[in-house]
This record gives sequence, C-alpha cells and structure tokens, in this order.
Amino acid sequence: MIYNKISPLIIKQLQQIVGETYLKFDSETLSNYGHDETEKLLFLPEAVLKPRTAKEISEILIIANKESIPVTPRGAGTGLSGGALPIHGGIVLSMERFNEILEIDIRNLQASVEPGVINEAFQNAVKELGLFYPPDPASKGSCFLGGNVAESSGGPKCVKYGTTKDYILNLEVVLPTGEIIYTGANTLKNSTGYNLTQLMVGSEGTLGIVTKIIVKLLPYPKHNLLMLVPFRILDEACAAVSEVFRAGFIPSAMELMDRDALDWVSRYTESSVVKLEDDIQAHLLIETDGNDLEVLMKEMESVSELMAGYNVADILFADSESQKQELWKLRRKINEAVKANAVSKELDTVVPRAELPKLVKGVKQVGEKYKFKSVCYGHAGDGNLHIRIIKTDLTDEQWNGKYIKDAIAEIFTICKKLNGTISGEHGIGLIQQDYMGIVFSEKALEIQKGIKLLFDPKAILNPGKMFG
Ligand code: LAC
Ligand code: ZN
Repeated sequence: MIYNKISPLIIKQLQQIVGETYLKFDSETLSNYGHDETEKLLFLPEAVLKPRTAKEISEILIIANKESIPVTPRGAGTGLSGGALPIHGGIVLSMERFNEILEIDIRNLQASVEPGVINEAFQNAVKELGLFYPPDPASKGSCFLGGNVAESSGGPKCVKYGTTKDYILNLEVVLPTGEIIYTGANTLKNSTGYNLTQLMVGSEGTLGIVTKIIVKLLPYPKHNLLMLVPFRILDEACAAVSEVFRAGFIPSAMELMDRDALDWVSRYTESSVVKLEDDIQAHLLIETDGNDLEVLMKEMESVSELMAGYNVADILFADSESQKQELWKLRRKINEAVKANAVSKELDTVVPRAELPKLVKGVKQVGEKYKFKSVCYGHAGDGNLHIRIIKTDLTDEQWNGKYIKDAIAEIFTICKKLNGTISGEHGIGLIQQDYMGIVFSEKALEIQKGIKLLFDPKAILNPGKMFG
C-alpha cells in the first residue's frame, strides 16, 4: 500500500475538525506519541490528533481514506506489542479526551464508558457503588479501557473472572470508512447475527475506532485472602497450579514469579516483604475472594495443604491490607523491574494450564541452545506465562536479527505443540506478526485478512499490524 504524506492543506482541514489546540506536530509531541512500552521502538507520526467526539473521528477518517493517510489509534501507550506505533507515519489519533464515565447503571449492573478512561479510575468508581469490574492489567493505574478492548487485556483477576472480552456487551465504533455503528446490544445474552462485538475486541485498532464501551459489572466480593508459596523447584510450582483447580478451587488470582523475577523486583522497589532464601526457585501468589470469610479461610487452608505436598518453604499469609498491597505491587512491577535491569524482549505465551511445566522446560531448553537467560512470571492460573528473554551475552546482531527470531519461533512452536498460542493478553501488534503462521493455517490467516479488507478497503487504519 502506498500512503501519502499530510499536506499543509490537509493539516488545515484536520484543524477545522478538532480545533487548532488538538492538532500537534511539534517534534516533542511527535516523539512522545511515537513510542509505547514495547522495547525501544520509535516511529514518528506526522501529526497527533486529539478528537473529542465520534463525529470528529468519522470526519478525520473520511479525509484519511480519501487521501490515503495512515491513522494509528492510541490509548495510553502502555502496550507491549507495538500496537500503537505509527510505523507508516501519518496521523496518531489519541483517545485521551474520551475520558468520561458516561453512566453506571446500578439497576442492570452495567456501565457506559469512554475509551480514554483509565482502568483503575473506572474500577474505583464502580467499587464505590459496591460493583466490580475485574480485568486488571499490571498497568491498570495508567492504561485506558479502550486499549484494554483493543488488546482484550487480562490481568491477575482474569483467572476467576475472565478477560476484557468477557465484560464487553456492546461497542460504538467508527469504521475506517467513517460510518458509526453499534456492534451489538446492551444485553447479557445475544444470539443475533455475527458477533461483531467480539470481533472488535482484541482487533488492536485495525478494524475500527471504539468510541463508547458498554460493560457488564459484578457485585464486589467483600473479602479476599492472599498467600505466597515459595517453591524449591520451579517445575513443581508449575505443576501445582493445575492441581489446585483439579481439587475444586478457583482462586481469584494464581500468579507465578520465578526467582529472578522476585529478586529483581524486590530490589527495584526496595521491598523486603519477601525474604528470598537461597534454595527458592519460584513463588506462587494465590488469592481467593468471596463474601464469606470463613469459607475463604477454609479454602486457603485446603490449598495450603495441597501445596505442602510439594517441596515448599514456609508459606506467607498476608495479614494486613498493606502487606497485600505490597505483595501485589511486587507482582505488578516485575515487567518494569526487568526492563530497567536488562535489555530484554517480552513474550506472552499461553498454554492449557496443565502444560505449564512442559512450557517452562521448553523455554529453558531454548535458552540453553541460544544462550540467553529468561525470566518467567505471570498468570499461571490461566496458563499465561510472560517470558522476558534477557539479552545476556548475545551480540547486537544476534539480538536484533534472525538469530533471536529463530529462538522466539522455537518457543512459540512449543506453545503450539502444547495446544497453546502466542499471545494471551498483549496482542500481536508489530512485534509478533512474523509468528502468526506458527499458530494459524494459511486459510485461517486469509479469512482474517479478508475481514480486515472488508472493514478497511484502503488499509488506512493501524496499517502494518497483526499481518504486516
Ligand atoms: C503483567 C503484564 C506485563 O502481567 O501483562 O505484568
Ligand atoms: Zn500480564
């Protein structure tokens, strides 16, 4: 696809739509909106637009279509797969002014919210009314709900409550050709036509721009309990995960942190809440929640008895809200800590949970073959393991070229063999697209490309993502 540059005349037209204040092309803004949280990648757009209404977005897209100008939608820029990077230049369409919670419908346990609302701000607003919006990415303090929809983001709570896709009832979307549609209905059940809502969720801003989100809410569970289980053998920590579920428990979080992950994050956050003994290889952070504290305590006791069947050290039961917060802070900051500590690449592997031991073993074997270390952590209860490959002693050429791509392809091939896939919650974006062929047949890819073409015949919306 050949794209055109934004001419001064088009700048004028765009300014008329959003207003001068909300069209920026100074170099500082362009560079601020040219990167996200994915490695050290920078692609400069030609202009950053900050529209406020669906109608404005529609008008922008009509111009972009006519003039073949790429448009890259952007939330808070916390993505980890490069989905918001304007790799062909053009317009970055920032959704930051769509920042209103439009309605919290207590009668129906639903809310209507704009995509630029921060996840945690929304969680807090509904919590004040006794309601619960569970999807809780590690970046919840800054990421936007619109970005969560784009990536179908997850987080620790998703093991019990499901990911973003399980909470989206209906969406208002501006299509790349400028039409504004609703994808479904504000109902909990819906067997009416193709499921356009779920097609949009996880489509990474390649099919349309979400301008309104209708979510379902749950009653907020009154209590939760948290424990940290130190394992002397990483493989056993992985094996214990699926046993908990087989024994009849569904924890509200079941997170794995390998030794390096916890060690690095403790130092990064200067936390001493966990005493990391020399012989510990991994930890499981396990939470249960519900309305009956006695039931939860019994559940915790039973789970800890299960854990005692493995080679574990003393279990830490969080005994105060502040200790819980500190343990969660450690878990949530791992990605940041590892990034700060070493040059690395993040993979978002996911397998059926009982296959976790095989996945971790496979990753370590690939690491030995290609001579890199890796840090494993994440949503073990979902079989969703984040793997940070550390550059270690690899040369820049190996790290940036075919060598490391081959290694990553080997890890993803293991995922596929274990009936898993290559992203559980971070998306494909820019950096994982070369590996789509590992998990999809040509026909399955062709169907997806056909859908993209139907929505976006001139390929102006977030071009170069997912399929290249
Ligand atoms: C996490 C992010 C990286 O779970 O998904 O920490
Ligand atoms: Zn995660």
